[in-house]
Amino acid sequence: MNPARAFNISDLREAARRRLPRIAFDYLEGGAEDHLTLHANREVLERIRLVPRTLVDVSQRSQRVSIFGNAFGCPFGIAPTGGAGIYCRGAEMALARAARAANVPFVLSIHSFIPLDRVARATGGAPWFQLYIHPVRAATEAAVRRAADAGCEVLVVTVDAAVGGNREYNYRNGFTMPVRLTRRTVIDALCHPAWLADVYFGSLLGRLPEWGTPHDAASWDDLARLRGMWPGKLIVKGVLTVEDARLAEQHGADGVWVSNHGGRQLDGAPASLTALPQIAAAVGSRLTVMVDSGFRRGADIVKALALGADMVFVGRAPLYGAAAAGEAGISRALQLLGSEIDRVLALLGCNAIAELGPQHLLLPAKDHAQSYSWHEHANVISVAASG
Ligand code: FNR
Repeated sequence: MNPARAFNISDLREAARRRLPRIAFDYLEGGAEDHLTLHANREVLERIRLVPRTLVDVSQRSQRVSIFGNAFGCPFGIAPTGGAGIYCRGAEMALARAARAANVPFVLSIHSFIPLDRVARATGGAPWFQLYIHPVRAATEAAVRRAADAGCEVLVVTVDAAVGGNREYNYRNGFTMPVRLTRRTVIDALCHPAWLADVYFGSLLGRLPEWGTPHDAASWDDLARLRGMWPGKLIVKGVLTVEDARLAEQHGADGVWVSNHGGRQLDGAPASLTALPQIAAAVGSRLTVMVDSGFRRGADIVKALALGADMVFVGRAPLYGAAAAGEAGISRALQLLGSEIDRVLALLGCNAIAELGPQHLLLPAKDHAQSYSWHEHANVISVAASG
């Protein structure tokens, strides 16, 4: 696909759907069980309205932000996605390069086909690195040491996967990592010859990313241990409650990442955006607050920033680009999001991300908010709406 012919993330998604065999597209697209949380992520974003302001000089607008002392060109980054190599050859390298070119953060998953030190060497600097706490303590510690040796400055510990999410399409498709073509999947793969040649034969055969088993005995003590051995910034990813955000702070985290894993873990968990305002209110003055899950438009990103996020991450959006057109497709995804943000900022009458706030949002009426809220979120929504 010529990525210039994609005018939004949805166009890239459609191109990805056509290029990938079902086994790979379903793994990219799906959520857990009945997709309740997957859909909730979108529903909440779509129900928030933006409040335009007119006749404001916005000719000097910029979407630059500073996170952990580093200046980034846009208020979003690329979330960690394991097994990205099944979408295009060398996907992790392409993601890292595209992120660097756009000056946005890229988080490399521990489940990467390409090791961190190689990505760091090839792209002139280490990305952020994400890991799961491994059942074998020495394995976690070795991964942390590798990250430090590679020059990584930000470690993201994902904590919402004590067990794997129940993704039924994987069972139906016979999904394994690395992808193995079986009688069931070979015909589907043969119908996608470009993928077969580029990805399957080109890079997949026999490669196995570090595919750790979930660790259902991991606890905050493990996080404290990681804090003790990691000199850089530490982010806890997969937090959806104020209680856990506070615990992350007490255990030395520098940031919390509000996420339901793109709806891929606990089905029925709230939309990330539902949990965000309370968490930002509780810890946002001391910790960096990030959020992901369901972001497909610049306008979505602006909504989260106005509700207290310091940075938004996208998982599937750049992967659609990767599947559609490799590195150029990833760059296109980033460029589309950036230009959408720029337009929204202008139409809201804003010159800087720091100007965004609840005054730019019309939140769903309280009764609507309560229909998808939990805890006191409805209160936060109404406070924000009147603020
Ligand atoms: C993920 N995600 C994820 N998260 C993580 O911490 N480590 C990982 O290895 C992965 N792997 C992974 C693979 C794929 C294919 C997807 C789609 C997602 C979750 C990811 O970091 C992020 O939380 C979500 O993708 C955000 O939602 P959106 O932007 O995809 O809607």
